[in-house]
Parts: sequence; C-alpha cells; structure tokens
Amino acid sequence: MRIAIACDHAAVAHKLAVSAHLRALGHEIIDFGTAGEASCDYPDHGYPAVKAVADGRCERGVLICGTGIGMSIVANKVAGIRCALVHSVDTARTTAAHNNPQVLALGARIVDAATACAMVEAWLTTAFETRHQRRLDKITAIERGSPC
Ligand code: RB5
Repeated sequence: MRIAIACDHAAVAHKLAVSAHLRALGHEIIDFGTAGEASCDYPDHGYPAVKAVADGRCERGVLICGTGIGMSIVANKVAGIRCALVHSVDTARTTAAHNNPQVLALGARIVDAATACAMVEAWLTTAFETRHQRRLDKITAIERGSPC
C-alpha cells in the first residue's frame, strides 16, 4: 500500500519510527515532511499529505503532530476524508472497524513511538465492518450539504 506521512517539528522522531515500521511491513511511504526540528506549521505538511490521499495518489495517510489534534482538524477539512485521532491500539483498531478512516492522526506528545507503530499497524490490518456504512453515508451527506 502507498501511504502518505507528514508531521510537524514535534513529531519527527515518531514519523521516522512509523515510516520504518511501515516499510518493514512492505508499504511504500511518501514523506511530506517536515524533516527537522525547526518550528513549522502543521497545515503546511499535513494538507499536501491529505490531498495525496484525497486525489488517489496514496491509499492512506498518517499525520503526526504534538497532540494529533491540529493535524486531524486539517485532514477533516478536505472533502471526502475521514481522519481519526487515536490514542491507543484499541482506539486505532476500533476506528478502522467502525469509521473506516483513510487518515490516522497521532500525538507524539501523547503516545511513545513504539505505541504509535502498533497503533498504525492495528489500523491498517483491521477490516471495516460494513454494518457501519450507513453512518459513513450520513457523514458524506453532511459534507455535501444534504444531511438526512
Ligand atoms: C506545536 O507546538 C503543536 O501545536 C502541534 O504539534 C500540535 O499539537 C497541534 O495540534
């Protein structure tokens, strides 16, 4: 699978750890930065990564900032994208099954790098339970301005 990844200055080490873990699992990683610890603005890196998912250039996206909150807000502004901010392996697995998010957001100041890797792997390896599709259709309808 081709996976977009991006972070801000608070999460470079986590991004490198998650990227290495995903490559070891056989995935292709497209890195949208940032690369160093100089202060930057998370939308500058998160948005291009999410666009790559929305446009179909990548199948999934992983966004990491200090809390994961800013990145998740950015991602959920992009049409068609469902981004889940997760805090544990259990929430990562559950959101895959219930919300089928194309993008996962994590907080580098919230979880350690090993947990981040385990969370991303759980999300990628858990199947969506199609009984939840009706709810996702309602989210899409809200996004399109015609909520039921
Ligand atoms: C950067 O200091 C911090 O605001 C950012 O990493 C993130 O936590 C924002 O939601």
